[in-house]
Amino acid sequence: MSLATTQVATRGAVAVRSVDKSYGNQQVLHEVDLDVAEGEVLVIIGPSGSGKSTLLRTINHLDKVDRGTISLDGELIGYKVRNGKLHERRESEILAQRTEVGMVFQNFNLFGHLTALQNIIEAPIYARKIPKAKALARAKELLARVGLADKAGAYPRQLSGGQQQRVAIARALALDPKVVLFDEPTSALDPELVTEVLEVIKDLAKSGTTLIIVTHEIGFARDVADRIIFMDSGRVVEQGTPNELMTNPQHERTKSFLSKVIEPAFNI
Ligand SMILES: Nc1ncnc2c1ncn2[C@@H]1O[C@H](COP(=O)(O)OP(=O)(O)OP(=O)(O)O)[C@@H](O)[C@H]1O
Ligand SMILES: [Mg+2]
Repeated sequence: MSLATTQVATRGAVAVRSVDKSYGNQQVLHEVDLDVAEGEVLVIIGPSGSGKSTLLRTINHLDKVDRGTISLDGELIGYKVRNGKLHERRESEILAQRTEVGMVFQNFNLFGHLTALQNIIEAPIYARKIPKAKALARAKELLARVGLADKAGAYPRQLSGGQQQRVAIARALALDPKVVLFDEPTSALDPELVTEVLEVIKDLAKSGTTLIIVTHEIGFARDVADRIIFMDSGRVVEQGTPNELMTNPQHERTKSFLSKVIEPAFNI
């Protein structure tokens, strides 16, 4: 199975600027600054509760930031500048922007009453008004790309967790997003199903789509990432190439986290 596409890496640049986010009086993101280049594969690691999922959710405006801005290819996500001030966009604009950001969750979130194929064509037909025949042709192509050409008519309950997650990835790609966000895409899977999903993501990484991946699979992170950032307590503590971060972490918190998650054979 190959995800090689004609898509070139000229889109999907994400810029996060001084983002703060609180829930009640708990500050979850502290002045987060992050640039993700077009076509880059960024992996985010960090302990539970460090703000990884919150950061992903702010990137497609599922969560609103309290301060700071996020933009995708130069366009502000969720807001517009009018008379020098930020104003939240209208719901219809927010939904349109959200179609440019694919999201793959831990628990797949497929519609149980729809087949694999129907799950994939839903958003193209209803959100993008793509003609059904065209949406179907694209969905079949995507199913083939994730190795599930023969499962088009299967309902989620008839698929393994790994297969469901591959359908969810195909669904996220169906709107041709500029960037795809993965939030622990394999953590709900039985160990023997993890590899098939990681292989699909690795192929996607080679295709030039910008990817931001939260994962606890450190070996995978090392293989797939152009860059890894380590978050702790709502802050980006440090970042670097997989090699830099894993073999020569600069901060105690990074060292201590890595020593817990890296297999003993790779221990530093
Ligand atoms: N909707 C919410 N309401 C209130 N608090 C929240 C909400 N979502 C997240 N939090 C809190 O924000 C903090 C960061 O949560 P977040 O889910 O971003 O962490 P995470 O790094 O993704 O953790 P994990 O590795 O466990 O998924 C946590 O303390 C969490 O309890
Ligand atoms: Mg999370």
